[in-house]
Amino acid sequence: MKETILTGDRPTGRLHLGHYIGSLQNRLKMQDEYRQFIMIADAQALTDNADNPEKIRQAVFDVALDYLAVGIDPQKSTILIQSQIPELAELFGYFMNLVSLARVEQNPTVKTEIKQKKFGRGVPAGFVMYPVSQAADILGFKATVVPVGEDQLPMIEQTNDIVDRFNAVYGNVFDRVKAVVPKNARVPGIDGGAKMGKSLGNAIYLSDSPKEISEKVMMMYTDPEHLKVGDPGHVKGNVVFTYLDIFDSDKEEVEKLKKQYKKGGLGDVVLKKRLIGILENIIGPIRARREELARNPNKIKEILENGTLAAREKVQETLEEVRRAMKLNYFE
Ligand code: TRP
Repeated sequence: MKETILTGDRPTGRLHLGHYIGSLQNRLKMQDEYRQFIMIADAQALTDNADNPEKIRQAVFDVALDYLAVGIDPQKSTILIQSQIPELAELFGYFMNLVSLARVEQNPTVKTEIKQKKFGRGVPAGFVMYPVSQAADILGFKATVVPVGEDQLPMIEQTNDIVDRFNAVYGNVFDRVKAVVPKNARVPGIDGGAKMGKSLGNAIYLSDSPKEISEKVMMMYTDPEHLKVGDPGHVKGNVVFTYLDIFDSDKEEVEKLKKQYKKGGLGDVVLKKRLIGILENIIGPIRARREELARNPNKIKEILENGTLAAREKVQETLEEVRRAMKLNYFE
């Protein structure tokens, strides 16, 4: 029996190169080895976008297009929409009684996000609770492997706390969950910021046009002290080199370019043109597939609907077990 993976994204916009390196490539690999569920977590996205349903709805389709365009295969991976599986909300409700307010308020990732979003005490209660909802997502599928970024580790810890508590109170229903943090490089923003993000305005999207790619690379942060071509330049912290390290398959050539750049005599524009070509080679085929898929929105809807139906069956099985364990099986 294949182990079950649950992975997912909050649909708040199109996916970018950070997603591609950080999670999508990993999912392409995992879909052959695991039973993989990929959740478009629209209910979670609404926890801090309650007043913007149109944005989330649009993003659900954008994210689905991005998945399919990079090669997520609906025959191998099950793509589902979170909100359409009400049993996940039910499980979330039960889990809320097993978690203290003090415990959720300590979640370091949520704390950071509350600060970043300047919520203060006005933070939506649903936002504070989203790690509990995420635990329901994971356990609803009885997933045992969850590939996540570093920032999501507190969610897995919260999930395992709930597993222990649930099993202790109601009997053994759930297995503990393993987080797997892919060892992939982190793609910085084009401004040199540690993380690429939509709200940061520093992302290169998998759907960007050749013109957008070229403009963004031309804007990339390099070395502010490298004023003339002849000046010696810095490689460390130079976003163009960071990208070449990640995306350029000719490692020998990159080493040569680094040496030359450090010595002086290699201009930023030459490097940027090289990077534009490399990124276009990666994004070009994805963009083409995406455009083709986008011409048939009914097909996308069908893939999402079928995936969600199959996923719901799995969660319904878990909920039957949960209700029985919790003595909520009145009419059985
Ligand atoms: N919170 C995750 C993120 O921001 C997205 C997510 C929602 C998720 N539900 C999930 C990830 C379940 C893994 C499993 O990246």
